[in-house]
Amino acid sequence: MAEIGKDIAVAKNHLDNGDLVSIPTETVYGLAANALSEDAVVKIFEAKNRPSFDPLIVHVSKASDVKKYVTDLSSEADLLAKKFWPGPLTLVLQKNDLIPLSVTSGLDTVAIRVPKHTLTQKLLKTLEFPLAAPSANPFGYTSPTTAFHVNSQMGSKLPYILDGGNCDVGIESTIVKCVDSKIEVLRLGGISIEEIEKVIGRPVDAVRTSTDNPERADAPGMLSSHYNPGKKVIFGSVEFNLRKYPKARVGVLSFKKEHKNLNITKQVVLSPKGDLKEAAKNLFGSLRKLDARGVEFIIAEKLPDEGLGRAINDRLLRASQ
Ligand code: TXA
Ligand code: MG
Repeated sequence: MAEIGKDIAVAKNHLDNGDLVSIPTETVYGLAANALSEDAVVKIFEAKNRPSFDPLIVHVSKASDVKKYVTDLSSEADLLAKKFWPGPLTLVLQKNDLIPLSVTSGLDTVAIRVPKHTLTQKLLKTLEFPLAAPSANPFGYTSPTTAFHVNSQMGSKLPYILDGGNCDVGIESTIVKCVDSKIEVLRLGGISIEEIEKVIGRPVDAVRTSTDNPERADAPGMLSSHYNPGKKVIFGSVEFNLRKYPKARVGVLSFKKEHKNLNITKQVVLSPKGDLKEAAKNLFGSLRKLDARGVEFIIAEKLPDEGLGRAINDRLLRASQ
């Protein structure tokens, strides 16, 4: 198992040596390494069992650092950066030669963001390089939102987990590609499309997530099957599926109201007050809780398809595939 602590000097030491450290962010925990070192980056792919065609997100401490690694920042990208960084937004931009191709899986664009978490901000400021970090889970599984989640899934693969408590946002960043003056959403996440459109003052040019169009997901990692908690997940009406499987021992993930039914072995309500932010924050931890002994499968209810609800539905749909 990895050591868990809050010591930035220890984290820095491992990273300086080219080793992996799990870092807290406001979205989910990341599995970080020196983004400018091919050798360090390879360790991320190995530890996660991640296919080499799935590029990584680069994390920097402030928006002005982004310019060191990209060739162009359009005025709309700049508006988004100013509004949402530090925060759960990743911009895909034209990269320069400093970013190794192993980070971008051979693409000429780089996904980059400024995370908002005090510990990770402090860590990034002490480092002389940016951090490449995917979510700190084995490929295809639920993303971790506590240091404990990281340790239980990845503990044997890394020396140190920087413990920053529970992640505030709870789902990954929204990925927006800003190339050739187009604004394209590649992954729904912690910033809603409505918020993005408000800032740019127009509709986005495209939403290319696997949920909207499975054949045309443009982020290479947006495979339709993802976020698997272990048990089978059925995404849809709770009442309908309880009737369909009357003899099963079922776990239920509901949005705001508890379902009363004797077949339900375990139930988690994401947000009793119906708040989508709270629901996002609780999402991955709740899926883990439902992946419990005695539960044969999980029925996850569809949330309202607006704001963060769309990003949550995207995760649930893909957990069910
Ligand atoms: O909130 C987050 O974004 C978290 C935290 C740790 O920052 N990170 C995260 O990373 O979710 P990961 O690796 O689980 O997801 C990154 C996604 C993948 O789907 C990948 O395909 C996409 O970003 N991506 C990375 N570089 C890209 C690029 N140049 N063009 C298009 N998509 C890219
Ligand atoms: Mg991930």
